[in-house]
Amino acid sequence: MSSIILNAVIVFLTLGGATAVLSPPRNVRLTSMNMNLVLKWDSPEGVTGDLFYTAKCTTAVRKCHVGCVNISSLECDFSSLNNFHPALYGRYIATVRAQRGAEHSSWVESQQMVLESDTVIGSPNVLLISNGATIRISIQDPAFAVSDLRSVYGTASYNITYWKDGQNEKAKSISSILQNPIFLNDLDPWTKYCVQAQIIAERNTKPSKPSRTVCESTAGENTEAKAVWVPALVTFLVMAMVVTLVGIAVVYRRRISHFLCPKDKLPAHLLATPGSPLYWAMHNSDQLEELYNSVNVIAEDKSVE
Ligand SMILES: *[C@@H]1O[C@H](CO)[C@@H](O)[C@H](O)[C@H]1NC(C)=O
Ligand SMILES: *[C@@H]1O[C@H](CO)[C@@H](O)[C@H](O)[C@H]1NC(C)=O
Repeated sequence: MSSIILNAVIVFLTLGGATAVLSPPRNVRLTSMNMNLVLKWDSPEGVTGDLFYTAKCTTAVRKCHVGCVNISSLECDFSSLNNFHPALYGRYIATVRAQRGAEHSSWVESQQMVLESDTVIGSPNVLLISNGATIRISIQDPAFAVSDLRSVYGTASYNITYWKDGQNEKAKSISSILQNPIFLNDLDPWTKYCVQAQIIAERNTKPSKPSRTVCESTAGENTEAKAVWVPALVTFLVMAMVVTLVGIAVVYRRRISHFLCPKDKLPAHLLATPGSPLYWAMHNSDQLEELYNSVNVIAEDKSVE
C-alpha cells in the first residue's frame, strides 16, 4: 500500500500536479487459446467516468509493439494484430494501463507466458461413421490463431475414449494414436457407442479440451454378407461386360473386319508375290558383282630410319 502511495506521490511530483493518478486495472492476466494471445483485466476499483485502456506486449526477443491504444473493452487480442509474429513462439509478457481524459494509471504487468507450452489447445472435432460392427473415427484438429496444430506440435497424438451408450463407467481409452482416421473393430453389433477424443501434445503442459461426445450405432456383422455378395457382384459385372462385348462384336462385325483387313491393297506391281513382275525381276537379276581391292600388309622396319 505504501508503495502505491509512494508511486502516486512520484507521479504527482513528476507531472507537476497536473495529472491526478488513476487506480490501475486489476486482475491482469495473459491468456492463450489455440495459440492466440489475449490480455484481460478488470476495471480499476472505485473509478467512475469513461475509462480507456492501452495495452502492449513484449517478448524476450523483441517488442510486440503497442497492441491496443485507448480502447474501452477489458481485453486486447494481440494475435489479431498484424504485427504478431507466429514464428516467434517464446515468452510473452503484457502490460496495460487505464486512462481517463488527461489522467492515466501506472502500467500493470501480466504474468509471463510461454505460448506453445501454456496455450490451451481447443477440443478436436470428432466424426463417426459405422460400417457393420466397425466404427470409423475421423478427427479434425482445432484451428489455431497463428500457424496450425501440426506445425507447432509435430508429435501431437490422440487419446480416444469410447463406451457403450449408458455405460460410461466401463469406458476404454486408447492413447498415443497418431493415425487418423482410426477404426474401432472390437465392437458388438447392433450397439450404440459413444466416443470422445483429446489431443496430447508433449510440448504443452495440458491435454486439449475434450471433444464433445458423439455416438453412433453399429450394424450387424457385415463380413459374412460381404463374403457372399462381393464375388457374386464381381462375377455378375464381368459376365455383363463379356455379353456386352460379344453383342458389340456381332453388331459391328463388318466394320471390325473391315478395320482389321482393309480392302485397299497395294498396287500389284509393288508386290513381290510369286508370278508378279517384281518377283521375276528379283528372281532373274544377276548376282551383283562384288567389288574388291587387294591389300598388302607390309611390316615397316623402323630400325632402318
Ligand atoms: C481516447 O478516446 C476518447 C474517445 O474516443 C477520446 O475522448 C480521448 O481523448 C482519447 N484519449 C487519448 C489519450 O487518445
Ligand atoms: C485418456 O482419456 C481418458 C478419459 O478422459 C483418461 O482417463 C486417460 O487418463 C487419458 N489417457 C492419457 C494417456 O492421457
